[in-house]
Amino acid sequence: MSELVLRAESAADREAVRAVVAASFGADEVPALLDDLRTSSVWLDLSFVAELEGEVVAHVALTRAWVDAPAGAAEVLFLGPLSVRPDRAHAGIGTALVSQAIEALAGRDEPLVFVVGDPGYYSRFGFVQGDLLGFRPPSARVPAPTFQARPLPGRPGFVTGALVLPDVWWRHDLVAGPADA
Ligand SMILES: CC(C)(COP(=O)(O)OP(=O)(O)OC[C@H]1O[C@@H](n2cnc3c(N)ncnc32)[C@H](O)[C@@H]1OP(=O)(O)O)[C@@H](O)C(=O)NCCC(=O)NCCS
Repeated sequence: MSELVLRAESAADREAVRAVVAASFGADEVPALLDDLRTSSVWLDLSFVAELEGEVVAHVALTRAWVDAPAGAAEVLFLGPLSVRPDRAHAGIGTALVSQAIEALAGRDEPLVFVVGDPGYYSRFGFVQGDLLGFRPPSARVPAPTFQARPLPGRPGFVTGALVLPDVWWRHDLVAGPADA
């Protein structure tokens, strides 16, 4: 495989990213979710791509979420969607991209990143089942093993409570992930 470039998304990548998301998840729900996340208040410009032979082949975004903690709402990050173009899947690209995205969070204040997804995949990045750390999922439709959290080192004030996702995820009814994922 030629060299994989992992970098922050730029404005010029927008259409290519949308195509990768559509190829990974289907053209309807998740690309529209990403469009709406981009224009919402939870968009933090934490959007990363993997480029191979000059083409964007994978994408991941992290956006704002909250933990409803006893001491008040705590700002955290939510990882997703994560998309790898199907013809480039199972080559380590998703692993490399998520690892790089988490590294890029150094210097931020949020104590945690959350994800809803396959624990067989996300455990490699240090995600653990959220309820074991004292968190509750954002919906009863999220199966416990898929609701995962990854503490970010060096942040003070560990929090616990329910994860709260913003309205964008509810408008698209994707809090528990795509129906066929
Ligand atoms: C899931 C996805 C992001 C994985 O990306 P990838 O680049 O293929 O992943 P990697 O090559 O880094 O790792 C693949 C390995 O992870 C493991 N794995 C566990 N669960 C997996 C899953 N649901 N999909 C792919 N691999 C998975 C396997 O061991 C796999 O190894 P293999 O290639 O030998 O079978 C990608 O297949 C994708 O975009 N799928 C469609 C969209 C999606 O489901 N996104 C995640 C939503 S939570």
